[in-house]
Amino acid sequence: MRKLITGMKLSLDGKIEGAEGYADWVEAWSDDYGLMPQVDACVLGGGMYPGYERYWTGIQNEPNTPVWITGSAPTPAEVEWANFAARTPHYVLSNTLTSALWPKTSFIRGVEEIAALKQQPGKDIYLMGGARITASLIDAGLVDELRLIVYPLIAGEGKALFATTGRRRGLKLRKIEQLTDGRMSIIYGVDSFSDPRSS
Ligand SMILES: NC(=O)c1ccc[n+]([C@@H]2O[C@H](COP(=O)([O-])OP(=O)(O)OC[C@H]3O[C@@H](n4cnc5c(N)ncnc54)[C@H](OP(=O)(O)O)[C@@H]3O)[C@@H](O)[C@H]2O)c1
Repeated sequence: MRKLITGMKLSLDGKIEGAEGYADWVEAWSDDYGLMPQVDACVLGGGMYPGYERYWTGIQNEPNTPVWITGSAPTPAEVEWANFAARTPHYVLSNTLTSALWPKTSFIRGVEEIAALKQQPGKDIYLMGGARITASLIDAGLVDELRLIVYPLIAGEGKALFATTGRRRGLKLRKIEQLTDGRMSIIYGVDSFSDPRSS
């Protein structure tokens, strides 16, 4: 079965965005999790999709122009992701969004459709966020792996990755690596049935 793998860039206090509504501590939104070679589909929440589509459409159309959020010209790795995103199916979990600019974007209305997607043949699936869909899919037991990049920052006010998580779940440390600028890459496997209180 295809694995559902999430990749998130967060502060040490678990925030995936600051008070401004985005993670201004992230200098580039490239795939720094090494996921591109192993995935052929992306799953996103309706909360993040409009901003995501706007950001990457800007880079697809004008790869040398400074972009919204970072305020810098896209890095080569961001241009690579923009091209990958253009040819890769995106599935957006939303009960309100109905249209997208990208022809390969489709909308799904329930978590069970993501379970069905995992059963289809193909490579692994990248769960891109944001916080609420990630929490819901972890609670539903559908997320297989967390790839986190932890920034050396206490963000304070902002949206926490696990703010809406409802269930306790064990994690298995698979890999930890020190990156540049004080960042840490941490990969966890997610246990399917791990709450000792429920056994
Ligand atoms: N730091 C990072 O690495 C990173 C990565 C990705 C995103 N982000 C941030 O994440 C933010 C968005 O996160 P978010 O938590 O607000 O929104 P989200 O997780 O992207 O989307 C949540 C939305 O999905 C829809 N939905 C439908 N069924 C759902 C279910 N069972 N569980 C959860 N959601 C369901 C709902 O929208 P409808 O009302 O349309 O149904 C809900 O409001 C963005 O602003 C972005 O800045 C950060």
